Amino acid sequence: DWTSDTFIDSTVADLKEKIGSDKVVMGLSGGVDSSVAATLIHKAIGDQLTCVFVDNGLLRKNEFEEVLDSYKHMGLNVIGVDAKQRFYDALAGLTDPEAKRKAIGRVFIEVFDDEAHKIEGVKWLGQGTIYPDVIESVSVKGPSATIKSHHNVGGLPDFMKLSVVEPLNTLFKDEVREVGRALEIPESIIGRHPFPGPGLAIRILGDITEDKVKTLQEVDHIFIQGLKNHGLYDQVWQAGAILLPIQSVGVMGDERTYERVVALRAVGSVDGMTADWIHLPYEFLGKMSNEIINRVKGVNRVVYDISSKPPATIEWE
Ligand code: XMP
Repeated sequence: DWTSDTFIDSTVADLKEKIGSDKVVMGLSGGVDSSVAATLIHKAIGDQLTCVFVDNGLLRKNEFEEVLDSYKHMGLNVIGVDAKQRFYDALAGLTDPEAKRKAIGRVFIEVFDDEAHKIEGVKWLGQGTIYPDVIESVSVKGPSATIKSHHNVGGLPDFMKLSVVEPLNTLFKDEVREVGRALEIPESIIGRHPFPGPGLAIRILGDITEDKVKTLQEVDHIFIQGLKNHGLYDQVWQAGAILLPIQSVGVMGDERTYERVVALRAVGSVDGMTADWIHLPYEFLGKMSNEIINRVKGVNRVVYDISSKPPATIEWE
């Protein structure tokens, strides 16, 4: 029978044997998967592992600094890279969701490759791929298009010439969390909602500007803190806010406003393959709406997404 302890023991033994005295480089995202994968690899080979955590400018508010700190406390050998501007430049003017994903994936690989080249004699690339990523990357919607190109799966450029090590690719999310808890990774990372690799770029419908990112970060922060403060965060599998590409009329004092609309989304799920919208209390939603509209400049309307997957998806792009 599967238990996290036997999984850890056998995986660490396998990793030791497979990697030997080689060096491994791995990108961390702040999420559960890459953090657990890195901790397992670190347990097996210590500082032969170098981690790279890239600030793509599309993370949640304060996320880069906070998570980088946690990683250092966990003893991981981690390099933090501020690449915000490179991502914003690559995204400028792009509106198509897949084009945005591709640009982000491409810049990520460029930035990551720059860092990997600084490590002498690295042979392996660690990845936090979990089982549902493997499935969803090969499944199809319609005749040819893959559902969403998860940029952290497969498709590595030749020039990296690294072998891939993916210790979690047989596990579901709840198993990854169990393993993470057994490894004593902080609850702030283990209990964290999943967050997509392309980050806020796929929650800003239409083109990305730094200004829109800032607006959405503020909205998202109010919502996520609200969920935490009201004891709702752990009852939700994933939550976030979406900045819509429309403006709507509002009124403030004697003035007519014409400002942005944001959607809030909170879903329950086991593995992200299917999901149900969560019936958050009306009181809470009302409070969030007031806080967001009062505190975030340029937003005058908040809506709540009541669609489940299928037929909707969790993300809007
Ligand atoms: P959807 O929107 O397909 O999302 O119902 C299912 C889960 O996958 C995440 N997601 C992504 N993760 N790169 C990622 O790393 C992506 O391009 C991507 N698109 C969606 C989404 O946040 C949800 O957890």
